[in-house]
Amino acid sequence: MSAVPSLRHLLLLRPHLRFIALSTPSSPFLSYAPSHHFPPSSLRILSSSSSPTLTQEEADEAVGKGSSLIDVNPPRGTRDFPPDDMRLRNWLFQNFREVSRILSFEEVDFPVLESEALFIRKAGEEITQQLYNFEDKGGRRVVLRPEITPSLARLVIKQGKSVSLPLKWFTIGQCWRYERMTRGRRREHYQWNMDIFGVSKVRGEAELIQAVVLLFERLGINSSDVGIRVSSRKVLQAVLQMYAIPENLFTQVCVIVDKLGKITREEIEKELLSLGVSIEAVNGIIEVLSLKSLSKLEEVLGSEGEAVSELKKLFSLAESYGYADWICFDASVVRGLAYYTGIVFEAFDREGKLRAICGGGRYDRLLSTFGSEDISACGFGFGDAVIVELLKDKGLLPGLAHKVDDIVFPLDEELDGTASRIASSLRKKGRSVDLVEDKRLKWVFKHAERIGASRLILVGNSEWERGAVRVKNLSTREEFEVKIDELD
Ligand code: HAM
Repeated sequence: MSAVPSLRHLLLLRPHLRFIALSTPSSPFLSYAPSHHFPPSSLRILSSSSSPTLTQEEADEAVGKGSSLIDVNPPRGTRDFPPDDMRLRNWLFQNFREVSRILSFEEVDFPVLESEALFIRKAGEEITQQLYNFEDKGGRRVVLRPEITPSLARLVIKQGKSVSLPLKWFTIGQCWRYERMTRGRRREHYQWNMDIFGVSKVRGEAELIQAVVLLFERLGINSSDVGIRVSSRKVLQAVLQMYAIPENLFTQVCVIVDKLGKITREEIEKELLSLGVSIEAVNGIIEVLSLKSLSKLEEVLGSEGEAVSELKKLFSLAESYGYADWICFDASVVRGLAYYTGIVFEAFDREGKLRAICGGGRYDRLLSTFGSEDISACGFGFGDAVIVELLKDKGLLPGLAHKVDDIVFPLDEELDGTASRIASSLRKKGRSVDLVEDKRLKWVFKHAERIGASRLILVGNSEWERGAVRVKNLSTREEFEVKIDELD
């Protein structure tokens, strides 16, 4: 080991130290803050009041020759998007946008940083335990949003009577959850959300499910790869009524039974019993949640209640839309978020290898939890991570190469002005142009192949004397001399 302690080494030895600014020409990767805040060549290290600080000497050593490279990985559970990944993300988002457009939804956006109060719920949901929350410099409690639905509700309340209902909004945004990571589950992910406010009938859910199915179809996924499980929280509500369980326990019961399959039945029983639910009711709930057919559900609950009638209506609409083969009734779908009140659904891979691909449902009473008048609402969130895993498994990832139209290359240094004029004029016509200089011709040809260029425009002295350039068509390998005013 080097005698000079590395930065990492120093941090290991003195974990209480907090680096706030590393701004030296010799350590560009370590610039955490604008250099004008700190004298050049200085390393400022803050420590908690009682902890010792690094001496200037130690600090100088840390940024000197002996420093090791910082960890180049992004924080655990987060991602960089180098060009290939960014192309894939853009392609996916384009599909999200296109489906939303087809269903006549308008795009909206919200800050990733929200007030913590928007996400404080008391039902014991996992999501509220996974918050990235902190106090900002003004002493306000804030969060990096774990989901977008509360922001959407906030904006609907803020816009008040100025919006005409029904409103159909979509958004694509990053969400943060301090999650235990599994395949497709990360600490940050992007979510495509489509939500409808002001439609109380199951038409709303039927439209949303069509959007999900259209998206899958556009990506090349069919109903033998993926299914959508559908149920209704009203099923559970009806069972609670059968056992005379007080209404105010409804949300907590939903959040607990959503853990079925994730924790043991005994643990679920224990949690329900501690809420005050009788053992008969616990057994009744678990029995009903195992139902996988609507007719069986009808036998248990009768045909009068909203749970059964709404589900039947949704399945009949699914026939008319033409996506009935994608959906199935499954009473075990409850969803883990407190605010759902009616139909709930989740898309899953039929091989059962991955976590839910998307999920949503009706939340008719969310606005009143924020002190406003309720408006019926439903929507879904569709993450970017699980779907990419599924596309990988199915061999459906698209080939998305970097693509430019032209490479302009001056063969002589003194022609760099001419090359700039040519590149600029082509760019003004909308062509994508890579202007290359200081390279060998062999490198330029290889580069052209790498970036999928269609033409190579060589600016050489002899042609330029005739007011022309050499143009090589890289797909046909043909080469011509083209007058500069005829180049387009
Ligand atoms: P959610 O089920 O918590 O619902 O998340 C929706 C989708 O976001 C999931 O099905 C999954 O695709 C993706 N997702 C969630 N957490 C992660 C994670 N840690 N890593 C990767 N992907 C993840 C909601 O968030 C609701 N707000 C959806 C909604 C909108 N309901 C009504 N409107």
